[in-house]
Amino acid sequence: MRLVLVGPPGAGKGTQAQFIASNLSIPKISTGDIFRANVSGGTELGKLAKTYMDRGDLVPDEVTIAMVRDRLSEDDAQDGFLLDGFPRTVPQAEILRDMLKDWGQKLDLVLELVVDDEEVVRRLAGRRTCSQCGRIWHVEFDDKRDDVCDACGGTLFQRDDDKEETVRHRLEVYQQQTAPLIRFYADEDILVGVDATGPVEEVTQRAMKEIRPYAG
Ligand code: AP5
Ligand code: MG
Repeated sequence: MRLVLVGPPGAGKGTQAQFIASNLSIPKISTGDIFRANVSGGTELGKLAKTYMDRGDLVPDEVTIAMVRDRLSEDDAQDGFLLDGFPRTVPQAEILRDMLKDWGQKLDLVLELVVDDEEVVRRLAGRRTCSQCGRIWHVEFDDKRDDVCDACGGTLFQRDDDKEETVRHRLEVYQQQTAPLIRFYADEDILVGVDATGPVEEVTQRAMKEIRPYAG
């Protein structure tokens, strides 16, 4: 199964990706997570990406595409994958399509997580991420009063780009550069929209209902 999750910042892509990928036994590949790992590791890629991420802008296509090409070439991605946060521009989507075609592969499904801007700002303001296992939490919805991950005991952190001003800019960037992908994938006839409001488990169930017919 080759699957893409799209949706605005805070729609719950990372949250749903962790459950969907484990359900389908495929690797979850999140470009945001890979960039953040490079930023913490102080790599050249991380230094470059950080200048864009801190502003809420997209990292240039050629940098992102090269990184994804490397990741998709790894052994564990040969029988399927779930992409979270990529593609994010129409040129990225075109190159992904051509790259997969060269490898005799294609996407099975693109799942759009649908949620409004107000909910997005609420979700991102309270987001915390585990520095050890990467699990995503919410201070209010998960009733997280301490900074400890209930899954692994790691310390939780707040992302630098979750300040309200940066979140608003990321939403504008989404509308301008990423929303056109919805039409692109609708034209390719592989787009399905899922209502991403309500409890996390319900959203996962709705998503899995759409995915199962394609999962073989
Ligand atoms: P990235 O990390 O991908 O950020 P994003 O797309 O802005 O998405 P988020 O991670 O903010 O939101 P999400 O949809 O994953 O929501 P989450 O599940 O965490 O990218 C960061 C940056 O990297 C970009 O700005 C860019 O600079 C760069 N980048 C990445 N990919 C790129 C690309 N392809 N090209 C160029 N640049 C790229 O959920 C949010 C919160 O809500 C959490 O606290 C969660 O617990 C809570 N929540 C989730 N679901 C629910 C629910 N159903 N009910 C209540 N709360 C919920
Ligand atoms: Mg995410």
